[in-house]
Amino acid sequence: MSDQQNVYPVSDDIAAKAWADKEKYQAMYQQSVDDPDAFWGEQAKRIDWFKAPTRIKHTSYDPHNVDIRWFEDGTLNASVNCLDRHLETRGDQTAIIWEGDDPNDSKHTTYRELHAQTCQLANALKELGIGKGDVVTLYMPMIPEAAVAMLACARIGAVHSVVFGGFSPDAVAQRVVGAQSKLVITADESVRGGKHVPLKDNVDAALTRDGTEVCQNVLVVKRTGGEIQWHEGRDVWYGDLVEKQSTDCAAEEMNAEDPLFILYTSGSTGAPKGLKHTTGGYLVYASLTHQYVFDYQDGEVYWCTADVGWVTGHSYIVYGPLANGATTLMFEGVPSYPGHGRMGEVVDKHKVNILYTAPTAIRALMAHGENVMDSSQRDSLRILGSVGEPINPEAWEWFYRVIGNSRCPIVDTWWQTETGGIMIAPLPGATPLKPGSATLPFFGVQPALYDSEGKELKGAVDGNLVLTDSWPGQARSIWGDHERFVQTYFSTYQGVYFTGDGCRRDEDGYYWITGRVDDVLNVSGHRMGTAEIESSLVAHESVAEAAVVGFPHDIKGQGIYIYVTLTEGVEPTDELKKELTQWVRKDIGPIASPDVIQWAPGLPKTRSGKIMRRILRKIAANECDGLGDTSTLADPSVVDELIEHRANR
Ligand code: PRX
Repeated sequence: MSDQQNVYPVSDDIAAKAWADKEKYQAMYQQSVDDPDAFWGEQAKRIDWFKAPTRIKHTSYDPHNVDIRWFEDGTLNASVNCLDRHLETRGDQTAIIWEGDDPNDSKHTTYRELHAQTCQLANALKELGIGKGDVVTLYMPMIPEAAVAMLACARIGAVHSVVFGGFSPDAVAQRVVGAQSKLVITADESVRGGKHVPLKDNVDAALTRDGTEVCQNVLVVKRTGGEIQWHEGRDVWYGDLVEKQSTDCAAEEMNAEDPLFILYTSGSTGAPKGLKHTTGGYLVYASLTHQYVFDYQDGEVYWCTADVGWVTGHSYIVYGPLANGATTLMFEGVPSYPGHGRMGEVVDKHKVNILYTAPTAIRALMAHGENVMDSSQRDSLRILGSVGEPINPEAWEWFYRVIGNSRCPIVDTWWQTETGGIMIAPLPGATPLKPGSATLPFFGVQPALYDSEGKELKGAVDGNLVLTDSWPGQARSIWGDHERFVQTYFSTYQGVYFTGDGCRRDEDGYYWITGRVDDVLNVSGHRMGTAEIESSLVAHESVAEAAVVGFPHDIKGQGIYIYVTLTEGVEPTDELKKELTQWVRKDIGPIASPDVIQWAPGLPKTRSGKIMRRILRKIAANECDGLGDTSTLADPSVVDELIEHRANR
């Protein structure tokens, strides 16, 4: 069996000290599914509560009544768990190591300092009129103030909504309006790979859009000192406001089910949706997964290379590690700057023990050859992690051999913005590894595979991945649109959560995620809806119709392939391709840059007018022989025309 050829057994060294070996994993897993109340009631004790929960699990996946609650009578504060409770035992330990874009820039912030900074900002937020339940939008560089801002919101019961710093003004505006956010926290500029990104200018532009009047203030961190416009009465310097505040701020007592944050992500249809995560279950789940999946041991330096704008940054740069009293590294830059060896150099500089990154970053390094890591030793590394998209076995092996010096287990972690934390992943001391497989479910996670009719498939088989019961980190709703939440996740199949991913299970019960089965793209680990890009394109006056599909891309995993039908009379020119590329970048952000644009005089449609994406995907992938049945098309000849002029051969 090919799956069996490359099995990496658990190393004795790792198993000897690990939080869980195979027997412990199996026993804990069994209890977590047999008696979730007992299991999670016990796990809840890992965090501090003002009032400990007595009601543990209260969840329904019935599409007429989707209702997800965990620890519902408990009260707590997330920032107290990430800060205050560590002060006595580890006040002087580094909480955040910040590594700047410039390799000469780094800074350590202790738990005591982080606590003081968080309290000061929390008091500052109150002075700006922000209180419990208000939504604060963060559009920030990867600087410690981003974590401080998240924790300060949590401290006073405000709900943060972090928008990735690579998104456009329109994306910021959409999210400010969607969440009715009263405050935006940003910086003058961010710095990545030596280039400056005008965050504050983008916020200024965003706040000219309709509906954004709800936002009353913009709090601005001075990161570069670059020139910005100042809106008197609205804009406030972060430094000025914070420095005069007390370093004490009583934490708000929050119910376990009070929202902690909103995070927008793309779906297969419509505008991005704001997933609502709540406080108690999320924190228990983020901290438990961080400890077990990365086998985090006290005193270790842990580095997750994600951006705080994504859920990975929320759960595994900020909340999970800090709840566990870890030292978490936050990197402002990119792996390719100033040279391609940067990631290894950062590992050596800060003696990183655990490195959690993305397949796309690994593939980009691989492209620079075996010696790309020669500027570093990486002897401190113990555990490696991967997230965001399926990792191809070649990239897995390279990660293991070249970055990890063939010593470090790789935890390939499958999860989603909706799941709040890691769902399927090996535990370093318990699970033999198979390159390319996310392996086995975490405690409380019950995967199943369904066919398209909703029949459960047993044994070694390919299917659509669903989760048959709830876990504490699960998103509770879509902000302001519970019906859409129910429709998106609980209506495809009755009584289960539908992930949108395809998956294979092998003879050993290992799970192999095969990618999205809906119209969601995963480009360099960034999630994007084809509908979002299409609606951006059709807003251009030259575009009559557009269809967007993914195609296999060596480094990005998936690239963006666009078919454009022009408005009558418009000439298809290379200039226009450039213009449309810029248009999408400006509208959504650089992560949505088209890789290929093909002019399409017609698109393959069914007689009822539905675009047959299956065919467009095949043409984009240059797999024109296996197009399958085209007899239901209104005009089969458009397919020949598209094949003839395909742009990816
Ligand atoms: O398709 C899966 C893929 O990323 C999707 C979730 O994207 P997002 O909500 O942005 O969260 C990314 C970080 C958790 C999933 O539906 N995905 C994520 N991790 C993996 C993965 N696919 C395969 N293997 C993974 N380890």
